[in-house]
Amino acid sequence: MPANPRDVIVPLDFPTKSEAMRYLDLFDAEGERPFVKIGMELFYAEGLSIVRETAARGLKIFLDIKVCDIPNTAKGAMASLAGLPIDIVNCHALGGLEMMRWAREGLESRGGSPPLLVGVTVLTSISEAMLNAELGIPDTVNNTALRLARLAKAAGLGGVVCAPGEAGLVHQACGDDFITITPGVRFPDADTIDQQRAASPIDARRFGSDYIVVGRPISKAANPVQAYRRYRNAFLGIGENIL
Ligand code: C5P
Repeated sequence: MPANPRDVIVPLDFPTKSEAMRYLDLFDAEGERPFVKIGMELFYAEGLSIVRETAARGLKIFLDIKVCDIPNTAKGAMASLAGLPIDIVNCHALGGLEMMRWAREGLESRGGSPPLLVGVTVLTSISEAMLNAELGIPDTVNNTALRLARLAKAAGLGGVVCAPGEAGLVHQACGDDFITITPGVRFPDADTIDQQRAASPIDARRFGSDYIVVGRPISKAANPVQAYRRYRNAFLGIGENIL
């Protein structure tokens, strides 16, 4: 389990290592050491070197690669990642119970203390209408996310990625130590963009999120470090003039 639950995770959603490192330099210059997320865009472009260089800066890393394949391939993918200096990695819960179990086994195959494996429930870009009409799942988003969280727990995963509004339900069903990571967090003054189930950092805290993921509201801000602090303070309940 990560050493410091309840934190803001900052995605490095950039196409190149040099852009990602320039972004990290902004934080470094202000003495901030954010928990970062490396997603598919940067990982596919730069491979393992981006993970190693980010870790060399002493930063915690969530490798957000959302593995979803047959169990054997998922296990192999995770085995290839085992031993990397990462704190959290994920797979899709929609890959099923067996796939998640095998993914966990792959991650544990090198012994030591493996990173926390979390399952993606329903992407925060998916609305209930999309869930029903496009994916053909005739249920509410809440029920679907909760069912997938229970499945992830049954597979031995340590938590899930879900919308902020689902974090409380997930904790009720799966326990307080089952980590909830919630993207789709914005202050009301930010554009919701493509996130359908967004919430403010204050509400995310009330709902019981352990980690919030805040991308564009920080990276596109005129002063990203200031925006990061504003989100972090609101999420952690520090200070008063946060709005
Ligand atoms: O810019 P924004 O704050 O919307 O970025 C959200 C980040 O969280 C992106 O890096 C995206 O890949 C990720 N994410 C998400 N929804 C999920 C899982 C991950 O938005 N369910």
